[in-house]
This record gives sequence, C-alpha cells and structure tokens, in this order.
Amino acid sequence: MSETNFDVTVIGGGPGGYVAAIRAAQLGLKTAIIESRGALGGTCLNVGCIPSKALLQSSEAYHQAKHKLKDHGVLVDKVGLDLGQMLQRKDQVVKKLTTGVEFLMKKNKIKYFKGYGSFVDKQTIKITTQDGKEESIQTKKTIIATGSEPIELPMAKFDEQQIVSSTGALSFPEVPKHLVVIGGGVIGLELGSVWARLGARVTVIEAAPSILSMMDKDVIRTMKRVLEKEGMEFHEGTRFTDVKKAAKSVTVFAEKDGQKLEFTCDKVLVAVGRRAFIKGLGLEAIGLQAEKNGKIKVDAHYQTTVTGIYAIGDVIDGPMLAHKAEEEGVACAELIAGKPGHVNYRAIPNVVYTWPEVAAIGITEQEAQERGIAVNIGKFPFSPNGRAMAMGESEGFVKLIADQKTDRLLGAHLVGPSASELVAELAMAFEYSASAEDVARSVHAHPTLAEVIKEAALAVDKRSLHS
Ligand code: NAI
Repeated sequence: MSETNFDVTVIGGGPGGYVAAIRAAQLGLKTAIIESRGALGGTCLNVGCIPSKALLQSSEAYHQAKHKLKDHGVLVDKVGLDLGQMLQRKDQVVKKLTTGVEFLMKKNKIKYFKGYGSFVDKQTIKITTQDGKEESIQTKKTIIATGSEPIELPMAKFDEQQIVSSTGALSFPEVPKHLVVIGGGVIGLELGSVWARLGARVTVIEAAPSILSMMDKDVIRTMKRVLEKEGMEFHEGTRFTDVKKAAKSVTVFAEKDGQKLEFTCDKVLVAVGRRAFIKGLGLEAIGLQAEKNGKIKVDAHYQTTVTGIYAIGDVIDGPMLAHKAEEEGVACAELIAGKPGHVNYRAIPNVVYTWPEVAAIGITEQEAQERGIAVNIGKFPFSPNGRAMAMGESEGFVKLIADQKTDRLLGAHLVGPSASELVAELAMAFEYSASAEDVARSVHAHPTLAEVIKEAALAVDKRSLHS
C-alpha cells in the first residue's frame, strides 16, 4: 500500500483519536491520523486537562507556601508570584507531552497528516494544510474523533481578552482583580479556583439551583463551603442576562428571583458547557447527519449510520471526558479489527481537579432514591485519618453507596486530598462488580489516605473502626 492508502484513518488527534490510532496500528492495521491544530493531543493536552492541571498544581504550591507551610514549621521569608514563569512552565509541560504523542505516532508507524480533514466520499478524505495545500487519501474505514468546543453565549461572545473561554483563562498575563465566571460546572470551578488561589476575587454565576449540580448533594455542600473559605463567591439559581464592555472593565448583568444583579470585573470566563465539533468535516458528502444536539449517533460498535464510518469521544453521546474517549478509541479500533471491544460505562470516574479534589463514580444517593433502589450508605471523613492529619489535609470524606440486597457497589463519591488518584481503587472495584464487603476486606496500607475508602466500606455495614 502506498502512503495515501490506509485501512483506518482517524480524524482528530485528541486522547480519543490518537489512542484509537495506536490501538489500530498495534492490531496490524495501516493507520493514518489527521489533526489540524499543528500539535497532537487535542483540547485535553493543548488547552484543557494538562495546562489546567499544571496551573492547579502551581497555584496550589503558591497557596501552600503562603498559607500552609508555616503550620509545618517551614518558614518562607517572602512568598512572591512570578506568573510569567508559572505560565511558561505550563507551556513546557504541554510541549513535552504533545511532542511525546508525536513520537508515539512514529513509533507505531502511524502516518500523521497535519491539516484539516474532510470527507470527499466514504473512502476519500481531503486534507487541507494551514498554508492552503490540499491532498487526498484513500481509507477503508474512518474514525471521527473531532472532539468538542466551548459553547459561546450570544450575549457574551469570546474575545479571549476580556471575555474568555477556558483557553483564554489559561493565559491571563496578570492575575485578574475580579474574575466573574459564568457557569459553576467543572471548568468554572477548576479555573476559578486557580485564579482565586493566585489572589483574584472570583464570583461564580450559576443558573442551576446549585454548582456542580450533577454531583452528590453531600459533595456539593462540602465543596461550596471549602471554596467559599478560599474566597470564591457563588450566586446559584442566578441567570446571566448580559454583559457590557468598557475599555478597562466589564459589567456582567444577571437575575435572581426577579432581582437584578450587576458585577463589575476585569475578566469574564464563560464556562457553560461544550458542544460536539463537526464543522467542516463534510458529513453531507457521505450522507451523515448530526443529531439535533450536534452529536453523531453511533451503534454499540461505534459505527455511525454510514457503514465504515465510526465516531468516538466528545462527538458522540456520554460524558465529555478524555478517559472516556480513550476507552472508546481502544474499543472502536478493536471492533474494526474484528476483536471484541467494550467500554464499561458503569465504571467511568469523574473528577473535578480543585483542592481538595472531587471524584465520583456510579450513581448518587439522589439517583438511587429517584430510581427506587434500596441502598446502604457508608460515609467516612478524612479528619480522623492519620495520613491526612500528617499532611494537614483533613477536609472531605468518602461516601459509598451499595445495593441493599446484594451489597454490590453502585456509587462512590469522594471529596478530599488526591481523590483523583484514590478513585482508581474504586474504578477497579466497579470493574469487578465488587461489593462493599470486598473493599472492606481488602488490606489497605497504613498510614494511607486510601484507608478512608476501607472505613467507608466498613461503614456500609455500620462497623467502621475509627469513628
Ligand atoms: P459543565 O456542563 O460542567 O458546567 C456548565 C455549567 O454552566 C452548568 O452548571 C450549567 O448549569 C451552567 N450554565 C449554563 N448556562 C448558564 C448561564 N447562561 N448562566 C449561568 N450558568 C449557566 O461545563 P463546563 O464546566 O463548561 O465543562 C465542559 C465539559 O468539559 C464538561 O462536559 C466537562 O465534563 C468537561 N471537562 C471535564 C473536566 C474534568 O474531567 N476534570 C475538566 C474540564 C472540562
């Protein structure tokens, strides 16, 4: 086969797309990947998960130095902020990772086309490079993995200076005096807390009755209290209505219970969700129509309504999470190669990278009630845990929800230090359909934060040891 004929072509080089390409290549399929951004890794590596985590880590280090190290007896003379260095470090982390992914493509003999891919027909894809050059390739199968983009509000269009999307909020040249965040979801809280820790006043406007409305009620209550302690202000049940820009400030207008509110700030972050990105793909050329919400419909094998065309990740149904896209990429490549590919949607963790972190898997207590499932609940705080105490990080808890009849774990909700890492144990437990008793009987090293999970599992049967 020449370099223009492929078994599988992946359009989109994010975590879903590049992982699908690697798995397809591992299975012996001649694979191409098309990415227009100029760097692989998609939103996640370039302007999402990774740079935001770099900033979360840096801002947490600053916060620790300023407020927490003295508790440990560590005296720092003068804590200063070099935002330029912080942003540069973040960019270096991104560069290292995106270059690493490019290396993985070479290693797996995947042909990487830098350009915009669009369908000419079911087996021909045109690639347009940034300088306008065009070339076409032939492919037997195609995986659409083009991801998503931030939703823009008509009244508050992104200029990425005063009114920014998550991308702009990763690179403010100085700490805003007052940042108004529209949307108290994952992005609003993660990036809001970064800038709050660096010294900005942060006001969050949330239309729903509460921030993080999809999370367990106990989690919401704790997170709100902790973030308020850090100085964030929340206006829940508040509808954003308009913005007015001036040379050096922005006024945000909102409404709560018929009462008009007004906030004058220097930056506005709009984080009201993301939508599937399918622009310019030429779906009409292959007779593929997106659904009303802009997503692409697929069957259980990730095949769209057009034979030979598959889709994974943010462009299809389900949570917009990098790890969900990756798993779908692997499963899709395996199914294309004639192998059994499968994603266990019951066991997908969801993390909010604030500090403390939030992690959840499975159903909430409210969902159990709504669905009439009788459950036992075990909850245990981090405060009596030796390791958490030694770290000076005893905020939060682990809450486990188990089926009353079978003791099978149905939900797990964590707020606490390193919750994003701790949830891996529970993801494994869910994968093996573990019961609370299985987790309670597993030996957890002492002293570790993970012992709180064991205690919560014991608490399901009302026999936790350290409460
Ligand atoms: P989101 O869906 O998490 O939150 C958006 C929030 O905006 C909701 O609470 C909604 O009620 C509110 N909202 C919508 N319209 C509004 C309005 N006009 N006025 C006030 N509030 C309004 O979306 P977000 O935070 O933008 O994140 C987008 C996607 O990216 C999510 O699907 C998320 O899963 C994903 N993501 C995941 C991360 C992670 O896993 N840690 C990190 C960042 C993003």
